[in-house]
Amino acid sequence: MTATRSRPRYLGPSRPISQTRATRLGSTSSLRRRPARRSRGCEYQRERSRLGGLPLGWQAGASLSVAAGPSTTLRHLSSAGCKNRTCLISNFVYASRTEVFMDRRSFLVRTGLVMGPGAFAGSIVPTALAEEAADLSDWKVVRDQFDYTRDKINMAQLLVASPPKPVRDAMEKHMRGMIENPVSYLMENWQSGDVAVRQAASEYMAVAPEDIALTASTTMGLGILLGGLAIRSNQEILATTHDHPVTDTTLRYRSQATGAPYRQIELYQDATTATADAMVDTLAKAIRLETRIIVVTYVHSSSGMKLPIRAMAEAVERANAGRSIDDRAIFCVDGVHGFGVENVTMEDLGCDFFVAGTHKWILGPCGTGLFWGKHELWDLTHPTIAGADERFREWFEGKDISHYRSGGFLSPFGNPAFVLRWPVAEAFRFHLSIGKARIEQRIHGFARQLKEGMAKMPRVILRTPMAEALSGALVCFDVEGMKPDEVVAALAKKDIIATGTPYRVRYARLTPGLLNSEEEIETTLRAVSELKA
Ligand SMILES: Cc1ncc(COP(=O)(O)O)c(C=O)c1O
Repeated sequence: MTATRSRPRYLGPSRPISQTRATRLGSTSSLRRRPARRSRGCEYQRERSRLGGLPLGWQAGASLSVAAGPSTTLRHLSSAGCKNRTCLISNFVYASRTEVFMDRRSFLVRTGLVMGPGAFAGSIVPTALAEEAADLSDWKVVRDQFDYTRDKINMAQLLVASPPKPVRDAMEKHMRGMIENPVSYLMENWQSGDVAVRQAASEYMAVAPEDIALTASTTMGLGILLGGLAIRSNQEILATTHDHPVTDTTLRYRSQATGAPYRQIELYQDATTATADAMVDTLAKAIRLETRIIVVTYVHSSSGMKLPIRAMAEAVERANAGRSIDDRAIFCVDGVHGFGVENVTMEDLGCDFFVAGTHKWILGPCGTGLFWGKHELWDLTHPTIAGADERFREWFEGKDISHYRSGGFLSPFGNPAFVLRWPVAEAFRFHLSIGKARIEQRIHGFARQLKEGMAKMPRVILRTPMAEALSGALVCFDVEGMKPDEVVAALAKKDIIATGTPYRVRYARLTPGLLNSEEEIETTLRAVSELKA
């Protein structure tokens, strides 16, 4: 880190929606207190007159959202004690969940769709600078954001995250709100909470928020997406032998349900000798005229291989030349082990759909995930669980809404675990505050340190490519004379948490992340070098 570099700072959790509630819930650490406002009339009314007397009710709220950001409107919602009739009317309108989808423009504004990615900071859900912003240019400070017990070295960060402070604070805040007054809290937050998650994710991924579906895991995202993508029985599903068991099983279900055959290809036998060109070539040659759904895994949890997704997407695009939308191959990526590690956007990857959990490398709470799709391809999806975007309101007008497709309509409705979902916004902001490029460098650096160290050990066989173009955070290896599970058990005795790969061919696996330090990597290397059969 050079002295001249501007210091990334965590921008702090979203400003509490309700000052009254913030004060009352002040026991949670994430809530910042602001000086109590003198009663100077209703904030909503002042904004309204400032804007030239806009119509009342939701339309007014929506218009205010455009001009002043929804914080004004939303804070107004819970402005306790306001007896103003207009306030009460608008409170009533807001308080009815069935009325929330009233106006397309208001929804577009609330979801940031009229602003596009990047419009998040300080707009839709204002972000206040934390009073004591953590200096995230210092890796020690970053490490200190985790409340992880230091009694064991966590080298299994691909499984599930220990959420950093801003995420924990948001979890506590939302949990408290849902305990103290679940109905009011839900009414106040249910729309803005999802908006914040979509906005932060859209900024991180450089996509439009409307193209993001919110789920509870990678598995759920794969199930929703792959379980519904349009395919005919005379088309086929193409995947690889390197995908996770949940991908394989989901595709088998889909094949059973549709009659479309399911074919798997092997992209390499030994990841350490595989080349990007050969893998792309293998995929390109495997695509047939009838190939409809193609699924690959960005970073293989079986070997640590990171696929050249961009080049593969280009190969799929070449195969799609001249094909109609009903015949084109749809290129889907299980991206979970690159998401939160690799400094890429969806445009960099070039795939059609990207599925990931946000409870691993993104550092969100366990039980969260999302998937993204190209805007023009949402019509190829088919939901099975009802979701919603602003067009849901049409249902109340007696219209059939079942033909609508979007990230919203592909996000299962029905009171999901909001207390876990909403803090995901903070996880994305945490990444953005540190910097995606720095995070990639840091985690790649740890993986390189491990691989270079292990490459010098005579009894260790590396199973992950050394090249950074073909690897990320995952390091798979064998120790001569030991089974992978024995390696994992022996390291556990030395207080190092490793994992075995959950595949037919098993390896031992180390997956360092932001929780770790260089010293911990050295300690781990020492422990591996001391392993005895
Ligand atoms: C490549 C891959 N895909 C999918 C999953 C399932 O992830 P989730 O727990 O988010 O459903 C895993 C689990 O680690 C995985 O390694």
